[in-house]
Amino acid sequence: DAGADGDAAAAHPLPGTRVKVSGWVHRIRWEGAKLLFLELRDGTGFLQAVLTGTQCQTTDAINLHRESSVTLWGTLSADARAKGGVELRSDYWELVGRSPAEIEEVLSHDSNPDILLRNRHLVVRGTRASSILRMRSIITQCFREHLFDRGYIELTPPTLVNTMCEGGSTLFHLDYFGEPAYLTQSSQMYLETGIPAVGDCFCLLPSYRAEKSSTRRHLAEFHHLEAECPFITFEELLDRVEDLVVDVVERVMKRGGSLLASVNPNLAAMKRPFKRMTYRDALVYCRDNLIYKDEETQTHFDFGDDIPEGPERKMTDKIGEPILLHRFPAALKSFYMQKCDDDREVTESVDLLVPGVGEVVGGSMRMWKEEELAAAYKREGMDPKPYYWYTDQRKYGTCPHGGYGLGLERFVCFVLGIHHIRDACLFPRYRGRIEP
Ligand code: 4AD
Ligand code: MG
Repeated sequence: DAGADGDAAAAHPLPGTRVKVSGWVHRIRWEGAKLLFLELRDGTGFLQAVLTGTQCQTTDAINLHRESSVTLWGTLSADARAKGGVELRSDYWELVGRSPAEIEEVLSHDSNPDILLRNRHLVVRGTRASSILRMRSIITQCFREHLFDRGYIELTPPTLVNTMCEGGSTLFHLDYFGEPAYLTQSSQMYLETGIPAVGDCFCLLPSYRAEKSSTRRHLAEFHHLEAECPFITFEELLDRVEDLVVDVVERVMKRGGSLLASVNPNLAAMKRPFKRMTYRDALVYCRDNLIYKDEETQTHFDFGDDIPEGPERKMTDKIGEPILLHRFPAALKSFYMQKCDDDREVTESVDLLVPGVGEVVGGSMRMWKEEELAAAYKREGMDPKPYYWYTDQRKYGTCPHGGYGLGLERFVCFVLGIHHIRDACLFPRYRGRIEP
């Protein structure tokens, strides 16, 4: 029973049918010397097989360990005790690829985190890890369906670039045939150039950040769902972020079925509208709720201070519901952000914070006047040359526009109730880990 998309037992051939099944040995249970139960796994689901008599007495059977690949021939039989309601009564089987006894040390629940991480290529075969990967695939599908249903076009900007988007300190530098270049931090700027071509657009691509600090939320390579929309207002941007998250959670709940229940039985539909709170209100909230900039000296946050992850999460967990935190000071945010008309100190920017995880989305309206952008390059000390195409976006038929980026792995953590972001990845990348 693979869980998702209905009842796998119904898809099995009827009991009494003779079948050939290939897969991996997920679990082994001996009952005496002549009765061997195998739980098989083939990616579509699990099937219990029973081997009897001389089939259990071969050298291959006696030396069989978990994760061996096998092919079995036999007859299906209804059995209420077996997962999926059927059992395969094997009458002949072959070992395809053996698995050595050491597998037990790797896949033991007592293995320390480092052993598990070094052996991630084997750990992903386990029930929980493989269920998370399956759910991540469903979540990705739900994002695409949400955006396609609303008329967005998917684009694939390059991830090898010579411009920065989110500040110089987290850039990965590389040698691009002798020219300096970077791994992209965000595809946003390229999506902006896409809107006059295709209108509302999105991409789901890796972004890279040379994050010095290792937290349970930071990766060096993450998957970034980004969208960009022409001719919208800041209010509409907030609505779109809310709609995305609420609708995708609903879709995931519909599609996830028993697979979702096995990973996170507690996922609940999200209520609209989300709480909307300005940065200035957050300062007041922190003051009133004794969330300090510096615990020791009990210093409060003042306008212009970055509210770091820790206090921000404290606030979010205390409030206990998603928050669209918006209108951050210009000085704290990236060069391209549009300033608010009624308060030039702050920007039309937004972060979506969710309990347990913190920031999952960051977005903004973009500066859309050429002169303002030119002034921003100057203010930040940026050489405008490599950004000529970004500037041209403002030169040739500019328009108000905005968009957002959602960290897929953080969202997966939120939806599946995962504590550490590395468990949301096939092979996580963060400072200190480049293998497997
Ligand atoms: O807030 P960020 O830095 O915003 C941008 O990159 C914008 N250019 C996006 C846009 O408007 N198109 O990143 C957006 C989101 C964050 O909210 C977070 O969920 C995720 O990307 N993110 C990370 N996830 C894991 N590890 C990291 N090091 C991340 N950095 C950002
Ligand atoms: Mg951010």
